[in-house]
Amino acid sequence: MSNFKQKFDEYRQLIDKSLRNYLDEPCFDEKIVYEAMAYAFTGGGKRIRPLLTLEFCRLCGGNIADALPFACAIEMIHCYSLVHDDLPCMDDDVLRRGKPSCHIAYGEAYALLAGDGLLTLAFETMLKKYDGSAVLPQNAARAALELAKQAGHCGMIGGQTVDIASEGKDIGLDTLKLMHSLKTGALISAACKIGCIIAGADDKKISSAERYAKNIGLAFQITDDVLDAIGNTEQLGKTVGSDENKNKTTFVSLLGVEKSLEQADKLTQKAKGELEIFGEDSEFLCELADYLAKRDK
Ligand code: IPE
Ligand code: IPE
Ligand code: MG
Ligand code: MG
Ligand code: MG
Repeated sequence: MSNFKQKFDEYRQLIDKSLRNYLDEPCFDEKIVYEAMAYAFTGGGKRIRPLLTLEFCRLCGGNIADALPFACAIEMIHCYSLVHDDLPCMDDDVLRRGKPSCHIAYGEAYALLAGDGLLTLAFETMLKKYDGSAVLPQNAARAALELAKQAGHCGMIGGQTVDIASEGKDIGLDTLKLMHSLKTGALISAACKIGCIIAGADDKKISSAERYAKNIGLAFQITDDVLDAIGNTEQLGKTVGSDENKNKTTFVSLLGVEKSLEQADKLTQKAKGELEIFGEDSEFLCELADYLAKRDK
């Protein structure tokens, strides 16, 4: 196994285990939303966002254990966004991570509540696990604020708003880029920056991490659009062709597959150029950028 693959798997295992530990047992008999939340965690998510947080923290000289609650909080918000994204009132998708979407397994009302529960759990996890860690209070507060902002109406929710408002309409490349940068790029930016913030990195490094994130974030959603058009449902774990069915404008609908892949590649190269400040030790993030642009799931 290559070093990259091994490190990737180690991070994923740590994140999977920690997510389960951070979800406390319910304090009453009705366990359905708790089960739906646990369900939303599982099923082979790539865990890209928490992995970025942990790796940027390590790269900036921080302790991975200190970054773990923050990393998992980001994944909780990501999982909630997927549960809500699949709802009939949003993308109306029945397959997620190779399993029935949360609302198919638990019903719409409980899926809605599970999403709400995961969003709330993210902030509970950052605050609870912060107690007794070595992270400076001002850095913990800055990290939580960063996550709140990037997940909110000027970040991920803003992007989802543009996405829904644009369904069935002709939108141009500028609006599409804005939509993708917000709905997907914002949380990826938070993930990278928070890793640096927890490690107490200086603003120069935080800005470089942000520029790396913005480039891989847009590339990530372009690849997501391409996979929706030409991927394989079984491999992807979600239904191919969903964007076209919902009349979404995507990179593929505007530029075609080939040009979309070219754009993703350009952004990936740009992202890698931002890693110089982190030195040779940034090799994993370099390989990660390439892996994300070439992935098939
Ligand atoms: C899917 O994200 C939704 C987007 C923002 C493109 P991922 O491709 O990271 O999904 P998982 O977590 O691996 O399932
Ligand atoms: C989802 O974008 C973005 C968020 C969940 C914030 P998509 O709607 O393209 O994601 P998939 O393709 O359903 O995973
Ligand atoms: Mg969507
Ligand atoms: Mg969707
Ligand atoms: Mg998609």
